[in-house]
Amino acid sequence: MNRKPWIDVVRNHVSLKLGFLLLSIFFIILFSLGSILYSLFLNFYLSHVTGELTQRAHSHAMVLSDHFESMTISHVLRMEKGSSNMVVIQDRYNNVLGSSGEITPQKWTSLSHSHIGLITPIVSEDWKAKPFLVSQYPVLQNGETIGEVTMFSPTAPIRESVNFLRNMLLIAGGITLIIVGGLLFFISRMIVRPLVQMKKATGEIAEGKYSIELPIKGNDEVAQLAESINDMSHRIRFYQEQRNEFLADISHELRTPITYLKGYSDILSQIDLPVEERLQYVKIIGEQSSRLQRLVKDLFDLSRMEQGDFSFHINRFRIDEAVTDVLSLVEVSMDDKNIHLEYFPPETPLFIEGDRERITQVLINILENARKYTPPGSSVYVRVAKNDNSVVIEIEDTGPGIPESEIAYVTERLYRVEKSRSRETGGSGIGLAISKEIIEKHHGTLRINSVEGHGAAFIIQLPVALG
Ligand SMILES: Nc1ncnc2c1ncn2[C@@H]1O[C@H](COP(=O)(O)OP(=O)(O)OP(=O)(O)O)[C@@H](O)[C@H]1O
Ligand SMILES: [Mg+2]
Repeated sequence: MNRKPWIDVVRNHVSLKLGFLLLSIFFIILFSLGSILYSLFLNFYLSHVTGELTQRAHSHAMVLSDHFESMTISHVLRMEKGSSNMVVIQDRYNNVLGSSGEITPQKWTSLSHSHIGLITPIVSEDWKAKPFLVSQYPVLQNGETIGEVTMFSPTAPIRESVNFLRNMLLIAGGITLIIVGGLLFFISRMIVRPLVQMKKATGEIAEGKYSIELPIKGNDEVAQLAESINDMSHRIRFYQEQRNEFLADISHELRTPITYLKGYSDILSQIDLPVEERLQYVKIIGEQSSRLQRLVKDLFDLSRMEQGDFSFHINRFRIDEAVTDVLSLVEVSMDDKNIHLEYFPPETPLFIEGDRERITQVLINILENARKYTPPGSSVYVRVAKNDNSVVIEIEDTGPGIPESEIAYVTERLYRVEKSRSRETGGSGIGLAISKEIIEKHHGTLRINSVEGHGAAFIIQLPVALG
């Protein structure tokens, strides 16, 4: 379609759209008010002029009815001499008995067309086209018409006044429109300016510049939008940084086992290696491969869980039983490290709805951590209890604990408090990230309480199964 370019300009700018809309409304109001004012003035002015003219003609006719003689006629003519009006007095045969001014051919037409005997107060009211307003009255004596009084009032002053008024209204309207138009565009620009800034900001975000900080003035919808955009850019920046960090961490994590695999397989390729040594290296290669396999599997599970793409097999089961099963599984390794393990079961059996295998995985992760990061001779306490509508599982140890500033991070993937120490223990920092994700997918929470040097407590809260 072939649209005019200015229509496109208006369509593409909110400020112009708003300005035009308000201006059109204002113009309609101004135009209606102007028209009303104009016609009110015109009616008032015309009725004043015609009223005065007929009234004068009528009063002259009345005076002449009493004394239709030359003295009264000249008296009437003299009265009108000084005014802008003109009076013509005729007898019953249309003969002019006197006039207060010159009778032009146009005036003659009015006079010759008059019908003596009829009361026609205003003969001609057409002030726009005719040069005069004409008012005629018969002079009556005993019910008989003996003459006629015709009065002429020039229409030029009326036209001048009306033109003057119209021009004044137009000028006033024009000036008001210009002022209001300017004001409206200014106001709409003021409203729209933040939007334009936001458009620019989101464009920059799209180009990958996340350090956007839009100014926030007030608390209206526009300010809230600016706040949301700022928030969005912070989040994107955070995720971007996290992604970069994650990539760096994962490559670091992969490098160690791969270096082992490469190194030992190189050694194995030497022919003159004793069998014992050879078996030892094969064992190391096996261990590193398992570690790599576990890491990749864990990362894969975690990312599927985060995307909501992981299927859980939900069943109703006894959580206290699941805890007991896990405890009997870790008991031996705890004993081996001389760690005292103590269990405080709930008073009654407790049921939850969930994926038993995944919940077991969480419990193993946490208990395994307690064993790994707690020195020999320490204790691990496991408590299961009901609190309102939740099952609370608390696993507390008396080990070194987690520094307060790091508690928030240990549930992030690949995060370890002391990188070198925990690498010795074979951890890659993904256990708690998976545990947290699993618990949250079960509509529960995983909290960590710890004071450095005084142990750590991991508190799982899950909804109790109904019925
Ligand atoms: N009971 C605990 N006491 C002290 N520190 C702990 C404890 N549990 C976890 N941590 C710290 O939190 C970090 C993260 O734990 P997480 O289980 O996520 O990873 P990991 O044990 O290092 O490796 P993975 O579990 O993947 O084998 C650990 O590296 C450790 O530094
Ligand atoms: Mg762990």
